[in-house]
Amino acid sequence: MTRFKTALSLLGALTLLSSAQAAPRTWAQIKASGTLRLATEGAFPPFNGYQGKKLVGFEVDLGNAIGKALGLKVEWTSQPFDTLLIGLNQGRYDAVLASHAITAERQKAVDFLAPHYCSTVNIVAKKGGPTTRAALRGKTVGSQIGTSQLPILRQIPGIGEVRTYPNDQAILTALMAGRVDAWSSNGPVVAYMLKQAKLQDKLVIGETISNERNAGAVAKGNKTVLAALNGGLNKVMQGGTYAKLSDQWFGRDIRCK
Ligand code: ARG
Repeated sequence: MTRFKTALSLLGALTLLSSAQAAPRTWAQIKASGTLRLATEGAFPPFNGYQGKKLVGFEVDLGNAIGKALGLKVEWTSQPFDTLLIGLNQGRYDAVLASHAITAERQKAVDFLAPHYCSTVNIVAKKGGPTTRAALRGKTVGSQIGTSQLPILRQIPGIGEVRTYPNDQAILTALMAGRVDAWSSNGPVVAYMLKQAKLQDKLVIGETISNERNAGAVAKGNKTVLAALNGGLNKVMQGGTYAKLSDQWFGRDIRCK
């Protein structure tokens, strides 16, 4: 065996070893530990974001409420959106709550909870800019890496370029600087971000390009945790806490009808 091959097989063995050590926790293990480990992004307000150093948002409140309903403390991790489902299957945390749309592609990789809200995905542009599918012909649109709207944008006939960015704030900055013609993201997120940045007079929230059922996820095949978290979510959604939180963050109930 060449030295290169030896090094490769060693790497393979180490990878196997570390993934075996970090198997996703079962519900019995979580209960015994007393702490539920949740992960989100922290750059998708008002679902998950930061106020100074504090992780805040509807999904943060919802995750904490689910923990409470199940008698567990909640510990949060935040990391880039496109790494969240990978870490989930590596057992780094028990579940992810980061506005993932339920898609057939993702269902091959993880198991989704019941959706905790429904929303639109919209096109945003400066006044006079491209705010419809048809107007995106030959134009450059920015969207977050790893998101469900990317394949939808790429299918728009004649669209110029679909450029990926690490998060929505980076796209808003690029849009204002004229580096992209349009931005595509979750409707409530763009509405919130425009208001925060006081850009409602300059930017227009345009056409809806899709409707999404957004849900939390657990590692593929982690049935006991899926059942327990769905139980907790159901309690929160039926018991009035959900309606209260949704009203606080959005002024309406955003659950899927
Ligand atoms: N709903 C879209 C998706 O499933 C966007 C989610 C982005 N979430 C976030 N925390 N940045 O891909």
